[in-house]
Parts: sequence; C-alpha cells; structure tokens
Amino acid sequence: MTEAWRPDDDDDQQRRGAAGPVKVRVPAKINLHLGVGPVRPDGYHELTTVYHAISSYDELTARRGDTLTLTMAGEGTGELALDESNLVIRAARALAAYAGVPAHARLHLRKQIPLAGGLAGGSADAAATLVACDTLWGTNLSREELAAIAAGLGSDVPFLLHGGTALGTGRGEAVSPVLARPTTWHWVVAAADGGLSTPAVYRELDRLRAERDAPAPLGSPDSLLAALRQRDPKVLAAALGNDMQIAALSLRPSLAATLAAGEAAGALASIVSGSGPTCVFLAADEGHAGRIAAELASSSVCRTAYPAYGPVPGARVV
Ligand code: C5P
Repeated sequence: MTEAWRPDDDDDQQRRGAAGPVKVRVPAKINLHLGVGPVRPDGYHELTTVYHAISSYDELTARRGDTLTLTMAGEGTGELALDESNLVIRAARALAAYAGVPAHARLHLRKQIPLAGGLAGGSADAAATLVACDTLWGTNLSREELAAIAAGLGSDVPFLLHGGTALGTGRGEAVSPVLARPTTWHWVVAAADGGLSTPAVYRELDRLRAERDAPAPLGSPDSLLAALRQRDPKVLAAALGNDMQIAALSLRPSLAATLAAGEAAGALASIVSGSGPTCVFLAADEGHAGRIAAELASSSVCRTAYPAYGPVPGARVV
C-alpha cells in the first residue's frame, strides 16, 4: 500500500479552488406578505414574511488576488462605499474567518438592483459573495453553513442564498421553502429616485402604531400561502400585504401616486416592496407586465419601470 501524498494546506487550497473568475448571479427579493410584529429586546422586529425572488439581478465576479478588493459598475456607482463597511467585503471576510482561509480576492459587482430600494440588493450582493468566494477558495461549505454565515450578515441574506418563494420567520433569517404548484408570476418593478433607510421605516411604523395610526398587523400568512397554491393571479393579488407600506408612504407620500398609477395601468395589485420605496405590481401574464411597465416607465411617477418574473433561484454560479 502506498501512502497518499499530502500537499501542504496552501497548495491544497489553491488546487481545490477555482483558477479562473467565478461569476455569480443573484436575484432581488420582494415580500408577498410582510407581517411585522413587535420590537424584540435585540432591537429587531419579529417578522412573518413570504419572500419571493424575482428576475432582477446583480452579478458578482470573484477573481484570485493578493488582497481583498471591490470594484463596481451600474446602479449606485459612486454612491456605494466600497470599503470595509460594504456588505460584500464583510461577507468575504466572514466566510474567510469561518473557513480559516485568507480573504484574498478581487471582487467586481455589476449592480442592477437599486440601492436602499426595499429589494434587498445589498443582502443579495452579500449572498452572491458567499457563493462566489466559497467556489473561488474551494472551501465548499454546506448550504447550512453558508446560511448561518449569511444570517450574521443581515436578515434577508439567507433567503437570497435560497431563492424561490419561502417563508421567513424570526427577524427574517429563518427560511423554509413554501410548497406551491410551479407557477410563474409576472411583476412590474418601479424604482424610485433615492432610497429609504430600512431602520427609519421600521421606526416610522413603530411610531404610527404607538399613535394608533396604523392598520392592524397582518398576522398569519395563511391566506397568502393558500393563494400561492392556486394559479390565479387575481387570487394572489387579493392576498398580498405589507405592514411596512403605511410607514413607507408616511415617509415618502409620493409613493401613493406610484401605486395608483400602477392600478390605473391595469395592474392586479400594487404594493410597496419591503421597506420601499420600490413599488411592485402584479400582472396577469408576461404581455400584461410589459404593457404596464411601458406605461409606468413613460410616466413621471417613478425613475424607471421594468417587468420581472418569479420565483427564480437564489445566488448561483453562472
Ligand atoms: O438585518 P439587517 O441588517 O438587514 O437589518 C437592517 C435594519 O433593519 C436593522 O438594523 C433594524 O433596524 C431593521 N430590522 C428590524 N427588524 C427586522 C429586520 C431588520 O427592525 N426583522
């Protein structure tokens, strides 16, 4: 019997990792149901949400390097800090620390998902970074390990690894898939000028609730989950709900006109996405979504509007 040859750890690391660039595509999320409960002792709100990944993507490319660097192009270039505060850099460092490897990579982000838009773009980029660096470095963590690192980076990050349509509980980080008949839903995404700060929208909701100026909390997502099991977009339209919408509208009253314009253009439902200010509209089919998007894009109620569909997979190497 011959003894196995054991390369030293560094060589082994290089061998197991990818030599060339690793490109990962990651979707945006919307919330079909966003039930916000009370503030917990840790400052987060207890959530019951139904996440849905849509075909609006960011792309993260990871290459071998001697240090950790980040460059970007597209949405938010010049506005987004590319330093240690960036969730992409934090994700790479968190993975490297967990796996015990040097955080060496040249990362490039191509952004399409608006910043601070309520579509979890930053969380999506963190999820993409975990998948890209795990492949580049050959660390090959399990989905469960990646999800645990993801949860430490932000409440929405585990879902963006997962994708599809999923129930989120806890502060949003505990994700379980929703069993639904395979159906593609067609949406229109209307991006706003300027973002909204997620903590500020949560604070506004708390304020409105304390002043009894907010509707009763949505509570259970059962009717939304039942609607997903049918294939009728009108049924889904009636079941969509977002507790944060009232707070986003309070901070950005002009969103009322955006929501109304979507309905006037024939959307089956209009909702604010997450903490906003992006609004999403449910369409009957792909052609309908295209017509609504064209009408909104040529109006003054949003910066841009485009069709998207869901569910789509989470962060994946392409
Ligand atoms: O988890 P993440 O870092 O994305 O959250 C950003 C902010 O949103 C938190 O600091 C908190 O203010 C607010 N938040 C919350 N309850 C949640 C999720 C987020 O209050 N379930």
